[in-house]
Order: sequence, then structure tokens, then C-alpha cells
Amino acid sequence: MENTTAFVQSLQQLVDPSSHLALAPPLARWDVRVDGREHRVELTTGYPLAAGTVAALREQVEGLAQVAGGVLAGFEARHRVAAHAVQPGLSPVPRVRNVIAVGSGKGGVGKSTTAVNLALALQRLGAKVGVLDADVYGPSVPAMLGLSGRPESPDNKSIEPLRAFGVEAMSIGLLVDTDTPMIWRGPMATSALTQLFTDTRWDDLDYLIVDLPPGTGDIQLTLAQKIPVAGAVIVTTPQEIATLDARKALKMFEKVNVPVLGIVENMAVHVCSNCGHAEHLFGQGGGQAMAAQYGVPLLGSLPLDLRIREQGDAGTPVVAAAPDSAPAQAYLAAAQAMAAQLAARPRASIAIVSTLA
Ligand SMILES: Nc1ncnc2c1ncn2[C@@H]1O[C@H](COP(=O)(O)OP(=O)(O)OP(=O)(O)O)[C@@H](O)[C@H]1O
Ligand SMILES: [Mg+2]
Repeated sequence: MENTTAFVQSLQQLVDPSSHLALAPPLARWDVRVDGREHRVELTTGYPLAAGTVAALREQVEGLAQVAGGVLAGFEARHRVAAHAVQPGLSPVPRVRNVIAVGSGKGGVGKSTTAVNLALALQRLGAKVGVLDADVYGPSVPAMLGLSGRPESPDNKSIEPLRAFGVEAMSIGLLVDTDTPMIWRGPMATSALTQLFTDTRWDDLDYLIVDLPPGTGDIQLTLAQKIPVAGAVIVTTPQEIATLDARKALKMFEKVNVPVLGIVENMAVHVCSNCGHAEHLFGQGGGQAMAAQYGVPLLGSLPLDLRIREQGDAGTPVVAAAPDSAPAQAYLAAAQAMAAQLAARPRASIAIVSTLA
């Protein structure tokens, strides 16, 4: 018994290589059965892990079993995503366990690209995922996911999300003609956002990734006041760090009680598509410095990569088009780190009952 306790304690020192967080409660639970020398280990995490992470952990667990004088006779890893706490006064909705907003201070830094690739990465890790395009003035999620066609509304009240690469998606761009300019004033735009969120028949999602428009305006305020958000991710480019815009976005989320899960630095390094040479066009370490200054993690640093642009703009984001490529692997690691940060947060206080309509 004492030996088992020591063994479990040694397992709890193991870390997730993407988030650098220890695989211990509340992030993870280890169940151990020791029978003579045979050690059987089950790892349950509150977020999905990449197959590579599980394989590496298995080896480490094997080593620890040997240190404990035994052998590893069985190892299983599984995940269960809980609903996490949201802003005071709001509760998670039944069909969506966690809403994660992706925002930035400035436009054009790669929010939509990051949101879509993080969503596809979470799906590849084994989670149930949706994407909500909150950019009602300039929706880009349909084009990035290669979606066309109108969502159906069997009961004339709710709408069915469309699906691409295993994720669900909803966007105002799917409901109105793409060449109709969005001339809506504030209230119409914000009520469109809340309707897209509440009227879509999301199918029991672990994560709903919300792609925000740039800045800190009406849409962001509506999101903060009306939509239960478990966490936010700030996308920034090295230039943006210099202009303080990303810091404004970070402060805004703090002010409305939405925890910032971390920063994704985008277009940090240019990798030459001919020779593979990496060049820090805008200097190095800005994302890391900003993360350290505000005490939030740097979830990932994405290169300025031709494939990210071409494949994203062609409707097959790099995580779907080339999952083994370096940029796709960087998105997978960032997604795992983001999900780990969320799993470390308190759970929602009310029980979420999954409703089958
Ligand atoms: N890491 C990257 N490497 C190469 N191109 C990228 C990268 N990230 C984004 N892009 C490209 O930059 C352009 C802008 O990206 P995106 O639309 O994702 O930005 P955004 O922040 O959502 O913009 P907006 O503020 O208009 O919503 C797109 O053409 C996209 O393909
Ligand atoms: Mg965008």
C-alpha cells in the first residue's frame, strides 16, 4: 500500500510536454493496481492528449514501475472533458461544455487561421469540437473550412450546424449572401451573434471555438455579457506586441472575468519554402516576454508559412491538409497546451445534463 502511494506520487510528477503542467489533480488522475510485481496504470485526463504524448508517457511510466521494483503490465490513457467555470452570473449551456474565444487587439494577425486550426487540432486529439464565427461583419470561417450551402432548420427555430473535417461550424456567412455587405448596426450584429450561439443545434461539444472580430468592441462585449465563456486565447504577431494592441485585448478579457488561457504568437518566424532557413523577421521572443509580463502561458509560436496561408485560404487548413507538417504539429501542441490550461481551471458549479432533443 505504501509502495503504491509512492508509485502514484512519482506518476504525479510526470508533465504534459505541451503545457509543462504536472499530470496531477485537477488536471489528471492516476489509478493504479499492483499485483505482486505487476503494475497496471490508468491515466484519466480532463483534456485530450496526442498519441505521441501518450506513447512517451507510457515509456516514462514503464521506467517508474521498474524503479518501484515492478513491471508495467497494463497502461491505458483516456480523457473526459468537464464543463469549466464561466463568468459570474452565467452558466454553461447543455450542448456546449466549454466556449473558448480567440481574440486579438488588431485585425489581420491570424485569429481566424488560428481559431480554425486549433479547432481541427482539438478534433484530431479526440475531442468533439465546433467553431462559431463571431465576426458577423466579415465572416471568414466558411471560406477557411471550405463550407458552402445553407444550414437546415427542420423546426424553423433552431439551425443545424454544417460539418467540415469532423468539426461543426456556424457562421452568419452561411445564412446571408456573401456579397451582401454587412450594414447592420451594433444591436443587430450582437443579437445575430447570440442567436448563432443559442439557436445552433450543437451536438454535445467538448469545445466551441469562437473566432472573434478584431478589437474590443460591441461583439466582444456581447460575448462577455451573454455567452458563457470558459477561457480566451490571444493571438498576436511580433509587431502587434510592439504596439500594445494585444495587451488591450488581454486586459479586456480580464476585466470581464474571462480567464486568458494563453497567447499564441503568429507569424513569428519566416521559414523559407526553398531552403528551410528560419528567419525572425520581427525579432525574437516577443510573445514569450508578453506572456511572462502578464503571467499567462505562451501556448505556441506559429511560423509565417506559405502552407498556412495557401491551404487556409483554399478551404483546407494546414492541420487537415498536412497533419504531419511542422506547422500542423505546432497547432496540435498549442491546442493540447490550451486544453490543459482549461482543464486546470475550476469546474462549472452546476451539473450539466446532456439533453437529447
Ligand atoms: N502563420 C501564418 N503564415 C502565413 N500566412 C498566415 C499565417 N496566419 C495567417 N495567415 C494569413 O494571413 C491572412 C490573415 O489571416 P486571418 O484571416 O486568419 O487573420 P484575422 O486576424 O482573422 O483577420 P481579421 O482581423 O480580418 O479577422 C490570411 O490570408 C491568412 O491565410
Ligand atoms: Mg478573422
